[in-house]
Amino acid sequence: MNLKEEAAQKALTFVKKGMTLGLGTGSTTAYFVDMLGEKIKSGELTDILGVPTSKETDARARKWGIEITTLSENPKLDLAIDGADEVDPTLNLIKGLGRALLREKIVEIHAEQFIVIVDASKMVARLGTRDALPVEILPFEAEAHIHWLNTLDCRAELWLEDNGSPAVTDNGNYLAKCWFEEGIPDAYELAQKLSTRPGIVEHGLFLDMATEIIIAKESGVELLKRDA
Ligand code: A5P
Repeated sequence: MNLKEEAAQKALTFVKKGMTLGLGTGSTTAYFVDMLGEKIKSGELTDILGVPTSKETDARARKWGIEITTLSENPKLDLAIDGADEVDPTLNLIKGLGRALLREKIVEIHAEQFIVIVDASKMVARLGTRDALPVEILPFEAEAHIHWLNTLDCRAELWLEDNGSPAVTDNGNYLAKCWFEEGIPDAYELAQKLSTRPGIVEHGLFLDMATEIIIAKESGVELLKRDA
């Protein structure tokens, strides 16, 4: 079993009969959805509902026969499970390199408990030091949004596919990637700026959202909890 699978397996121990779950996106969460599907199929877990955070996860969950619901039908989620691209010591996250940050954030703010599953490579001292910050932008005047993002002490580029066309999200929007040379100095200040700019649909800073982090390391699986 690899580290991502180990993190997913630990997350499964938090799932109880009758729960409504937020189902994240990415390779680590894919392991979780498969393990959940197996438990449901074998009858070990019953009365589970899932709200997927992407078309990809929706298809994966349906393949296993996991019953899908929506936030309008079930606005209160018992638990959401998702991966992350970076996790800092205060349990703040960068998410979205799997292109699903908008639906992930919409779903995960509805969760009473939000458990993030990562391998140890995702742990950083400061957000923005491992990879780019993804930002979902409106296609209308996309270059103007990219230009504005470049004024935020980062290098911002439109996220392009290998064939040169813009990457398009499940929501029909584009994505930008923002690189910070020495990481993000103040994630709260940056989140505030990004949230107030028209044309910026959502950003990958998930601040004060995760309640627990499951970190799979070579030496074993560790659980970090947010202070109450
Ligand atoms: C999806 O948009 C992201 O937020 C993912 O959670 C993130 O990219 C983690 O992906 P892996 O589990 O594949 O590392």
